Amino acid sequence: MNAPIGHYQYDSIDRDFLAARIDEFADQVARRLDGRLTEDEFKPLRLMNGLYLQLHAYMLRIAIPYGVLDSRQVRMLAEIARHYDRDYGHFTTRQNIQFNWIRLEDTPEILRKLASVDMHAIQTSGNCIRNVTSDQFAGAAADEVLDPRVHAEILRQWSTLHPEFTFLPRKFKIAISGSPNDRVAARFHDIGIIARPGPNGPLFRIFVGGGMGRTPVVGQEIFDAVPEDELLATLEAILRVYNAYGRRDNIYKARIKILVQALGIDAYRDAVRAELARMNLDDYRLTPAMVDAIRARFATPELDAPADAAERLAADRARNRTFDRWARSNTHPHRAPGYIAVTVSLKPPGGIPGDATSAQIDRLADLADTYSFGELRITHMQNVVLAHVRQDRLFALWESLREAELATPNVGLIGDIIACPGLDYCALANARSIPIAQKLGARFGDADLQEQVGALRINISGCINACGHHHAGHIGLLGVDKRGEEFFQITLGGRSDNQAAIGEILGPALPEDDTVDAIARMVDRYLVIRSTGETFLDTLTRLGDAPFKEAAYEKA
Ligand code: HEM
Ligand code: SF4
Repeated sequence: MNAPIGHYQYDSIDRDFLAARIDEFADQVARRLDGRLTEDEFKPLRLMNGLYLQLHAYMLRIAIPYGVLDSRQVRMLAEIARHYDRDYGHFTTRQNIQFNWIRLEDTPEILRKLASVDMHAIQTSGNCIRNVTSDQFAGAAADEVLDPRVHAEILRQWSTLHPEFTFLPRKFKIAISGSPNDRVAARFHDIGIIARPGPNGPLFRIFVGGGMGRTPVVGQEIFDAVPEDELLATLEAILRVYNAYGRRDNIYKARIKILVQALGIDAYRDAVRAELARMNLDDYRLTPAMVDAIRARFATPELDAPADAAERLAADRARNRTFDRWARSNTHPHRAPGYIAVTVSLKPPGGIPGDATSAQIDRLADLADTYSFGELRITHMQNVVLAHVRQDRLFALWESLREAELATPNVGLIGDIIACPGLDYCALANARSIPIAQKLGARFGDADLQEQVGALRINISGCINACGHHHAGHIGLLGVDKRGEEFFQITLGGRSDNQAAIGEILGPALPEDDTVDAIARMVDRYLVIRSTGETFLDTLTRLGDAPFKEAAYEKA
């Protein structure tokens, strides 16, 4: 096979670095296993390598830079699921994959296997700059104005083991998009970047201080048009101000969002400008030659669909209604004629959002090879994307997905639920997010109903840390503990797109089954009160939450 497309190609320098890092960690693991290191001594070392200790076992979080994988990497993930986990992996809202049942003694071997396909788990934990996320349709979307992957890669290299930012006050998350339609939740990141072309090269609009968790905040614009050559200096200055002034005395107040709130965005901007004035900008200048050198390390697909590809797809859709429905929900317009981007839903009715078995992961690798240049992306909605599918081959792809039970037609619909691992795995949880996600998925499993309901996003977190983005759900569910019992608080009106907003609490929290019933009644009410063409959010905006509150808490 040719060089894998879609992501940066490692060379011997990258590989030597990873090998040395794994040797170091293998030694630390050996010392933990024979007792020379206590758990307290070992913890910071393992966390630097993405290894958590959860309720039942170790959990390994593997970085997928900007969510892009090639098929040999995908196959390696399947192998790890098969040999070292319980035969499945969990795709997360940060475009990573997590394995929940890892044995400590296996981790060096797993990391070596990952390194053999140019992957690692560095900086997937700890108070450093985490995996840089991006648009799952990067380089493919029709509405994209600038491919963000090259700059995402530059940010990955800049932030990996950055000596000044290895011990930030808290973890730090950066997302970058090259489309004016935000698909990366830019305003819910510590730094969110929207790239666009300018008259003299790319320009970057930068938001800071967004985030969810205990104190959800929508990020604010700090700069509208940072030129490419000043991108790194600007990010460096933003982080320096945070590193210097972010609160380290209180973990809940340590995020940049709290500092931005405390100072105000204008004062924060002034502080960044003052820092920039002290820096030697030449040290940070990204030249077009440097950017081109990174771009050259990406292989790009040759997009050469036959002239009648779109026509053939239209004919396939016209003759098969089930296929047509799936194509409606699970595809996205591509920039190249005759191509289309496909989202494979990992949310079958009653399934666990984001989970895929090793067999399914292998199958996805095969499909990526056959239909999308051997490349696959993870979305922050916990689905998978084949970004460059020829339109005349979409029907065949769909048939293969059906065989693999991966053709659920619900992307962007009510069954496309985001859920964190919750109390089934997570040591911090108050409630189990997975069973309620499964119940809701099953309750709204009917494809006709889902289509009728239209765009409606349900996001579920098992605790206030908000890993399941509940604040950004059109309907959000937050697991809370009420005297030892699992309850769910409902929020309405959250969204993570250009009009990012935090959901508002509807009323008292309810037990699991009552929550499912309450949501069903709210959806029924919406279907009755909506005006033609209105989405759930439109109706909520027009009428406020009163009718939904009434429906949710109505006694049977
Ligand atoms: C299983 C172990 C996990 C632990 C111990 C954990 C821990 C945390 C903590 C403590 C926070 C709050 C950070 C803060 O606001 O200061 C957080 C937030 C978050 N986590 Fe997790 N998490 C876990 C799993 C996950 C998973 C599986 C995902 C993705 C499905 C995820 C994605 C996120 C996201 C997106 C946030 C919100 C970040 C923000 O905007 O502030 N985490 N997590
Ligand atoms: S939201 Fe809470 S329960 Fe869910 S994964 Fe994050 S820390 Fe765990």
